[in-house]
Amino acid sequence: MTEPPHAPRTPVDPAPGPQSEHPGRKRPFWHTVAFKLTLAFVLIAALALGAVGVIANVSTRASFERFTRERARDEIVTQVQSYIETTGSVTGFRPFRRGRHGAADNVMSPNATGPDRGPYVVLDPEGRTTYALPDVPAGTRLTGERASLALPVELGGRTVAFVAPTLIPQSLDRQSREFLARTTSALLWATIAATIAAIVLGLLMARALLAPLRALLRGIWEVQRGEAPGQAPRARADEFGEVLTAFHEMHDVVVRNQQSRRQLTANIAHDLNTPLSVISGTLEAMLDGTFKVTPERLARLHREARHMGELVNDLRFLSLADAGELKLDLRDEDLVEVVALTVDGVQELARRKQVELNVRLPHGPLHARLDGRRVTQVIQNLLSNALAYTPGGGQVDVTVERGAGRAVVMVRDTGVGIVPEKLPFVFDRLYRADEARVKGGSGLGLAICKSIVERHDGRIEIESTPGVGTTVTFDLPLARSPRTAPQP
Ligand SMILES: Nc1ncnc2c1ncn2[C@@H]1O[C@H](COP(=O)(O)OP(=O)(O)OP(=O)(O)O)[C@@H](O)[C@H]1O
Ligand SMILES: [Mg+2]
Repeated sequence: MTEPPHAPRTPVDPAPGPQSEHPGRKRPFWHTVAFKLTLAFVLIAALALGAVGVIANVSTRASFERFTRERARDEIVTQVQSYIETTGSVTGFRPFRRGRHGAADNVMSPNATGPDRGPYVVLDPEGRTTYALPDVPAGTRLTGERASLALPVELGGRTVAFVAPTLIPQSLDRQSREFLARTTSALLWATIAATIAAIVLGLLMARALLAPLRALLRGIWEVQRGEAPGQAPRARADEFGEVLTAFHEMHDVVVRNQQSRRQLTANIAHDLNTPLSVISGTLEAMLDGTFKVTPERLARLHREARHMGELVNDLRFLSLADAGELKLDLRDEDLVEVVALTVDGVQELARRKQVELNVRLPHGPLHARLDGRRVTQVIQNLLSNALAYTPGGGQVDVTVERGAGRAVVMVRDTGVGIVPEKLPFVFDRLYRADEARVKGGSGLGLAICKSIVERHDGRIEIESTPGVGTTVTFDLPLARSPRTAPQP
């Protein structure tokens, strides 16, 4: 029996979401935005046209009434004057009405003996009525508002009579009534036309306005069903479009996070399971006597257990960093010194691997506020990658330079490189660009580097050409007031 090998990781299928279709909730038409918008438009149109109608009607009626009254007054004054010219006195005067076409028809008012209901009453020079009104008998003195509004009728320079308004409401003449009826029916037709236009406009606008909302709703159902985001529709430039675009971006992020969480959990399980099965398989075989207990086997068990411990520690480190609970012990330190010491520490390993390890440092110190232990960890991880993926006879160069307010550290190797498709993922947790080549690496090294560098307000980047080599560059902000030695 051979020892259990490292099994390759199985790809993780995204968890299938519930398959039920989400039916669009059916709602009565009067609960739709289309109905509300249309109703609002119709109400606005009806209110505006109604107001125009009422105002036009009232003002037209008022000006027609004024015109009719003035015409009647002039008429009655003329009648009084010619009556007095003929009879010598106003006594016995009764107004007569004009026919429809303005010609005097010489007919006395319909109720020639009864009270007169015309717009004006004629008073004699003493202010007494010359004929009866419904509430004032003939020959009575007129009092009140009507008397104060009385106008004198002059003849040959003398006041021969008065004409006073009766204040009895008069009906409009036929022409005015016809004009008003025409105006009213025109407004009615305008209201009908505006209502139809409002309905059409309301429905069209609701359709256009709600298109992004409907797309948003479809997207929400996709999220509920756990589906991957579909093709984002071309969003409009207005606020609705902006909401839709933001939603699609959010959906992308959520799905990517979900997938990487699932992937991560599966990878963690796999990566812990592999050494565990090696350990338990070997121990079982030792217990039942299939395997002899040899120092080599014990050493392998120890290596696997240590590997598991390292993996758990790394995961714990990253989860602390994620939770913002990673405490950095920040001090003013000379980055040049930190790099020089770390490179010295791996020279022996490089020599054994027959890889040439060079370091190029600036002349003076470069002070930065950093946690020396964590930055050392970053450089160690980068060097361990460079040495792991550079075959014997290759070369690894470490350079430290001063940039604008920053210190730049570069680790360049002449190793196997990484294919461009895999390059964007190398900072992901538990990601290994080439499964087959892994020698115990867990795929957490670069994720830890990124986490530490970013906690120092720095950036880390990787460039690689397969078959040529890889360069990882990170920078850290320089301290403003450099002090020399770090605090003990
Ligand atoms: N210098 C390099 N040359 C070629 N490939 C590299 C280099 N550095 C990293 N990689 C690729 O990127 C992957 C991720 O690197 P990372 O350091 O995160 O993980 P690892 O080295 O596999 O494991 P760990 O560092 O956790 O032990 C590696 O598996 C490797 O495929
Ligand atoms: Mg590594």
